[in-house]
Amino acid sequence: MKHTKVKDLLNSTKTLHEVNAKGWVRTFRNSQFIALNDGSTINNIQCVVDFENTPEETLKRITTGAAISVIGELVESKGAGQKYEIQVTRLEILGDSDAEKFPMQPKKHSLEFLRENAHLRVRTNAFGAIMRVRSVLSFAVHHYFQEKGFVYVNTPIITGSDAEGAGEMFKVTALPFDNTPRTEEGKINYKEDFFGKETNLTVSGQLEAETFAMALGQVYTFGPTFRAENSNTSRHLAEFWMIEPEVAFNDLNDNMDLAEDFIQYVIKYVMEKCPEDLKFLEARLTEEEKAKPQAERSEMPLLEKLNFVLENNFKRVSYTEAIDILRDSTPNKKKKFNYIINEWGADLQSEHERYLVEKHFKCPVILFDYPANIKAFYMRLNEDGKTVRAMDILFPGIGEIVGGSQREERYDVLVEKMKVLGIDEEELWWYLDTRRFGSAVHSGFGLGFERLVLFVTGMSNIRDVIPFPRTPMNAEF
Ligand code: 4AD
Ligand code: MG
Repeated sequence: MKHTKVKDLLNSTKTLHEVNAKGWVRTFRNSQFIALNDGSTINNIQCVVDFENTPEETLKRITTGAAISVIGELVESKGAGQKYEIQVTRLEILGDSDAEKFPMQPKKHSLEFLRENAHLRVRTNAFGAIMRVRSVLSFAVHHYFQEKGFVYVNTPIITGSDAEGAGEMFKVTALPFDNTPRTEEGKINYKEDFFGKETNLTVSGQLEAETFAMALGQVYTFGPTFRAENSNTSRHLAEFWMIEPEVAFNDLNDNMDLAEDFIQYVIKYVMEKCPEDLKFLEARLTEEEKAKPQAERSEMPLLEKLNFVLENNFKRVSYTEAIDILRDSTPNKKKKFNYIINEWGADLQSEHERYLVEKHFKCPVILFDYPANIKAFYMRLNEDGKTVRAMDILFPGIGEIVGGSQREERYDVLVEKMKVLGIDEEELWWYLDTRRFGSAVHSGFGLGFERLVLFVTGMSNIRDVIPFPRTPMNAEF
């Protein structure tokens, strides 16, 4: 007999004579009521065991975490909380779970404990919900771009370039650590390495995506990216997934429009597809907020926060305006910021970004036209000669969720900039070719997928929205 998903059983429109369900026991009450979950939905199906006619030996094996198969009648439930339940006629233990040893006890565990058991935490309500929401969100990303005719491009994971020029790369090498081949000057001789050159894991697919945009018009990447920055924060991962659209003939304003429309679309999509998971996550968040001091509590429940993003335009503010606001802000004057903003040109820290979003504007903010020297080499220089057509999107509770720009399409200006920053022209010969042959205005951005999942799920640590987080000193699983 083929088994039916719990979700489908719960959504049944009629009672059914004989059904089969398979899943994992969440709880077993009074030697009678099994709460069974199979991951298809946050909801469990109640399976009522005829305990008088079930051997004691079998009853003992119905423990939290055990995999079981039940066959029985789908009947209207007499109990509150569910429409249907299964009156079990046959029960089979598929895989035992030692109740004493199974770490996911039916009680509240700390997020830290769950992180240490990332292989089992997905069996909890919260992580089941988060991972389903994550999956639906990633489908929404593809849906959005595919509907608009964007071409999905798989940019390389192993690359020779440092797209962001920030030097935060994991090296990829097949050279031995002892007796490493050296050049005459005593440097490591990468000519003898696997690729015959120095390579690393990609920090961004942007540069390769740009070459595709200059042929296919509208493209996007959606893949893993790697950063060896030693940031032990609740917003940084060493391995994260990034979505990078790149569009020929788009200027910075078009880029902002695209980013805003895209974010609103995927949030709307997940709200339509995952109402129960989001409802659960909203309740979880509300509960968590209660433990915080009043001043730190979020003012809106999760769904209201998501709706707010859908219904309100993102506020577009130039870097220069933002600096004026920050300079005059109370935390700046009272020296409450760790980094005091004194003058134009200062790099914004997350404390400043969050002040702008959470305290000042109280809505998502797009900052644009940043000083050239705090941004990457590829950004389009403005006529003022000191700012670039960069944009960052800042979200409440998250800070930077998107970083993007209009790209410098002028060959001479780009080469000059690379010279100043000491970026090897020869290494990026292929990138410069796009400016040599049929160059055109183009723009794109990168959205950190986990930061989006953070926002949508209302979780507060990025380690809790990716299946197996990679962070400094942690690569378990
Ligand atoms: O601002 P970033 O560094 O921009 C780029 O990589 C550009 N090449 C994107 C482009 O224009 N195509 O990174 C983009 C986004 C950030 O806004 C943030 O959401 C996310 O990627 N991000 C991280 N997410 C998790 N962990 C990290 N260590 C992250 N670093 C960046
Ligand atoms: Mg950035």
